[in-house]
Amino acid sequence: MDRSVGREGRLPEVAKAEIQGFATSGYGHLPHAAYLFLTIDGARGARRWLSGILPELTSARGWRPDPGGPKRRPSEAVNVAITHSGLGELGLSRSALCTFPRAFCEGMGEPARAARVLGDVGASAPEAWHFGGPSTDPVHLCLLVHAASPEGLDGLVAHHVERLAATGGSVALVPDGLQRGHRRPDGREPFGFRDGIAQPQMVGIRGEGAPGALPTGNFILGYPDHYGQIAPGPMLPAGEDAEGRLPLSANPHHPHGKWRDLGRHGSYLVYRRLEQDVRGFWHFLLAEAARMRGAGAGPAALPDTPALARWLAAKFMGRWPGGAPLVLSPDADDPGLATRDDFLFHDADAEGRHCPFGAHIRRANPRDMIRPCAPEQSMNMSQAHRIRRQGSIFGTPFDPARLDGPGDLVPAGDVSGLHFIALNADIERQFELIQQHWMNNPGFNGLRGSADPVAAGSGMGESRMEVPLARGAWRTRPVPALVQMTGGAYFFLPSIPAARVLASVE
Ligand code: HEM
Repeated sequence: MDRSVGREGRLPEVAKAEIQGFATSGYGHLPHAAYLFLTIDGARGARRWLSGILPELTSARGWRPDPGGPKRRPSEAVNVAITHSGLGELGLSRSALCTFPRAFCEGMGEPARAARVLGDVGASAPEAWHFGGPSTDPVHLCLLVHAASPEGLDGLVAHHVERLAATGGSVALVPDGLQRGHRRPDGREPFGFRDGIAQPQMVGIRGEGAPGALPTGNFILGYPDHYGQIAPGPMLPAGEDAEGRLPLSANPHHPHGKWRDLGRHGSYLVYRRLEQDVRGFWHFLLAEAARMRGAGAGPAALPDTPALARWLAAKFMGRWPGGAPLVLSPDADDPGLATRDDFLFHDADAEGRHCPFGAHIRRANPRDMIRPCAPEQSMNMSQAHRIRRQGSIFGTPFDPARLDGPGDLVPAGDVSGLHFIALNADIERQFELIQQHWMNNPGFNGLRGSADPVAAGSGMGESRMEVPLARGAWRTRPVPALVQMTGGAYFFLPSIPAARVLASVE
């Protein structure tokens, strides 16, 4: 079977027609999203429902149907993803279920795994989640819908809620299971920073020559990944795909002809509902800024405490609120650099004077500097673990300029945060590695007692942010838990042919 991506480094349209669109695109032109978390109570009805939505699924087909012609971007998008227990509820056999990788089988909400790997303990423990944890209805499916306008989204959601009602309870929303999100034109997330800038492209979609494009197999199953390997599985005993809709497994460990490749053209989707304490974030930074001023620390050029708080917040994130990376613009935000992503750390900022080692973006993607590795090795490692982020926000983003004005920082009762969504081919090697070993690790990159100030799990113990200064370093007081995990799951985003097979298993 041809596992290459074609002569020009692009996947052929027939392959793209099999891939769900959300595996290759976050639908930047469709900024209104809803995530419907669903539970199954009746395999037959659930398969009928899945079968019914198959024609509506958005594929990854190119948006320019005629070469050289105009782009025809979809005006709405629908995709479906399934948890491990959901696959079981649909009727997938045990022999197929156990070909999935361990992280996906155990699931995000398995309390021991969540505590050990993700740091989800205390208020963020799965037992306290609104959905996806052990104390709530099991989440089996997620329907992801995207639209160009709030009205378009309302219509799409109403259509799907009606379809669910028609199943007579075979597939239903879990409590709190209808989550709405949006993305702003300026990309701002609730703490007030431009998000959605750094995004790995993949060979096959952008072409071999696209700068920095990573191997297709880092994100889409069935293709060689960063290490030249094709992920082994998931597989289906050939008899369970009697019509032969899926390709035969190319895995040398599976007897030829006996297994079909259930994973090819699929991906894994990580969903986390992260509530952000916006008031707590800026109160902490203002208090730290006041403490710095009292100690005569920090850049002398900054006129007042709010300006110093914004400077410190940028050190937490690694970019200015407007998006400019600290490595390229260390002293002030610069709108001209808002979306720049062409920077490295080793030569430009080896001591972390501009972008601290503990900053969110320096942990999430350490680029060419992971101590004690050489730049080339570091870059190679960073690339192997990258994820595509394709989520949205809920609530109202804070405008950091408001620190200069009077009044309370955040309207009371405003609940805001991220629908954090990551796409990757290997949950353990990509999303979990970043969360566990880079964000939650208090000793990452030679630090001491310092986890990611915005995205570490809440079980990491006391953590202080360390900000290198011209002389010495500023160590903050313990950073409070600023983000609370409130619901989530690991999903398989099947190819369209795989979804068709899942809709017909008996
Ligand atoms: C509420 C929690 C979070 C907030 C407020 C947040 C915010 C941000 C912001 C503002 C950026 C910079 C803009 C950009 O490059 O797109 C960023 C980058 C990034 N974040 Fe987060 N994030 C959060 C959680 C997470 C989590 C849980 C992960 C993964 C485990 C993650 C992974 C990343 C990655 C990979 C980047 C790109 C880094 C780069 O390539 O330079 N973030 N985030």
